[in-house]
Amino acid sequence: MTDLPHKLVKGKHGGRGFELKPEQLNRREDLLTFLRTRRSTVAADITAPGPDEEQLARMLEAACRVPDHGKLAPWRFIVFRGSGKDAFATFLTRRWRALHPDAPTDTPAPEAEFVSAAPLVIAVVSAAIEHPKIPEWEQRLSAGAACQNLLLAAQVQGFAAQWRSGWPAYDEEVARHLALQDGERIAGFLYIGARRADAPPLTDRRRPFWRDRTRFFGEDEEETA
Ligand SMILES: Cc1cc2nc3c(=O)[nH]c(=O)nc-3n(C[C@H](O)[C@H](O)[C@H](O)COP(=O)(O)O)c2cc1C
Repeated sequence: MTDLPHKLVKGKHGGRGFELKPEQLNRREDLLTFLRTRRSTVAADITAPGPDEEQLARMLEAACRVPDHGKLAPWRFIVFRGSGKDAFATFLTRRWRALHPDAPTDTPAPEAEFVSAAPLVIAVVSAAIEHPKIPEWEQRLSAGAACQNLLLAAQVQGFAAQWRSGWPAYDEEVARHLALQDGERIAGFLYIGARRADAPPLTDRRRPFWRDRTRFFGEDEEETA
């Protein structure tokens, strides 16, 4: 397999970091290349247009095709578009102002501005149940996989996307507003749309060098560790 052109940069914890060149990002010629080059666009740089009905359906279909021990489908999706999305942004702004009465009102509430700007926001709800065989941990992991499949299915169709939690994922009033049930938590909000034309060019973020994160048990350990 060919190595991608990259530059080595200092890792956060002293290890080796790795950055692809801008022209190497989000290459979609085949699945493995895409997985090795995919890169998110921060929500601040996401704007319209978003996916159409067909593209959205394909994303949600991919999100449901994740490893899921016990076939529990321990996740569900809340899709925000149009007026439903505007109403959610308004709710978040009100909630933020209630939590932070001293916060300046001439700047947008964190996360609410991203909900307003992105044409499509999907909340992935992790819905774990008590089960005699399947630990909650595994059910939560499956929800993480659903987030990642959703992200990948958006990006592979050419959309700009980001998986975020932010304060709304942990706020009890937001949970109530979204009618989350016992055992349900927000695994993430997926912001999906197009990269703003005036956004700075997409650059990579430092990635750990895979060898630094990998230990081999095997005959070739000495050579590859
Ligand atoms: C569970 C989870 C929550 C995240 N929440 C945030 C967030 O609130 N804000 C943020 O800037 N990035 C957040 N990230 C990181 C972004 O999803 C993403 O990793 C980052 O923008 C770099 O993009 P890329 O690695 O997909 O290229 C979160 C990631 C995960 C897995």
